[in-house]
Amino acid sequence: MVDLEKLLNKALEKISAATDVTQVEDIRIAYLGRKGSVTLAFKDLLILEAEEKKAKGQELNEVKKKIEASLETKTRQLLEKERSDLETREWIDVTSPGAKHLSGHAHLVTKTTREMIDIFSRLGFEVVDGPEIETDWYNFEALNMPKGHPVRDTQATFFVDENLVLRTQTSPVQIRVMQNQKPPIRVIVPGKTYRRDYDVTHTPMFHQLEGLVVDKGVTLADLKGTMEVFVKLFFGEDRKIRLRPHHFAFTEPSIELDISCGICAGNGCRACKYTGWLEIAGAGMVHPNVLRNGGIDPEEYQGFAFGFGIERPAMLRSNIDDLRLFFDNDLRFLEQF
Ligand code: PHE
Repeated sequence: MVDLEKLLNKALEKISAATDVTQVEDIRIAYLGRKGSVTLAFKDLLILEAEEKKAKGQELNEVKKKIEASLETKTRQLLEKERSDLETREWIDVTSPGAKHLSGHAHLVTKTTREMIDIFSRLGFEVVDGPEIETDWYNFEALNMPKGHPVRDTQATFFVDENLVLRTQTSPVQIRVMQNQKPPIRVIVPGKTYRRDYDVTHTPMFHQLEGLVVDKGVTLADLKGTMEVFVKLFFGEDRKIRLRPHHFAFTEPSIELDISCGICAGNGCRACKYTGWLEIAGAGMVHPNVLRNGGIDPEEYQGFAFGFGIERPAMLRSNIDDLRLFFDNDLRFLEQF
């Protein structure tokens, strides 16, 4: 027969050392389970004489009760401790103010694009899209800029391979539209364009908004009227426009569109380099070769086209002096708009 006193002391010692309820359960099984020490000790009683059996039996019952009681107390203590730990760990101050989260808004480029789209939509223009990776033919050749022609130098090009470029302008979409639509055509193409430039007024990626109108009897006066309406709606009633002769391979005649300087009201200041005017778009009458490349007969139809930057009008309107700020993702800048 085992030494019951030792057995009891050992059990109590283990129980008292237990640090969680699963340990307590393991101890219970080790002593009181089917093959536990106490259970086995009850079996050992069978071989004893009647007198001794009774005495040892009572003793063993006491041991069992003490172990049970100790297990129970320990379990209760552990559960209580767990709960109070949880209270400390998960205590929250329900009166403390909630965490504020930043709510974002559309980027200035997006806002400006939407606003420009809105104005041209009111004039009956439809928004179309085109690929940012373009073939040499669409980006240059079809726009009257043949291979090796110096006019290509004005568009510092990113080449993907010999035949593919990141479009340097949204103008290639003019050709795609003419190939897919019959006149009357009245579309705008807002989108990303790419050139190898980087300074206060140039970034390698920037946005343009192209416009194309093709119909019978379209004249430069229609272009001028459209530009005037746009400028007044976008910049304000007080702004004047000026069409200045220029050269683009895909328009003839070509012009650059200037608006009167908003800072000096046309009197001349640093912002307009003392000219009173700010350049905001290229435009012109669609070149007959370009109409032909789009599958349209220049004898029957005429058209005008224009190309605005998107960042530049936004810069002029909000007095932003560095284009690169648009793409630095500095919230202190972006949150102002
Ligand atoms: N694509 C020209 C540019 O990027 C702008 C332009 C568009 C000029 C349409 C004329 C007509 O400079």
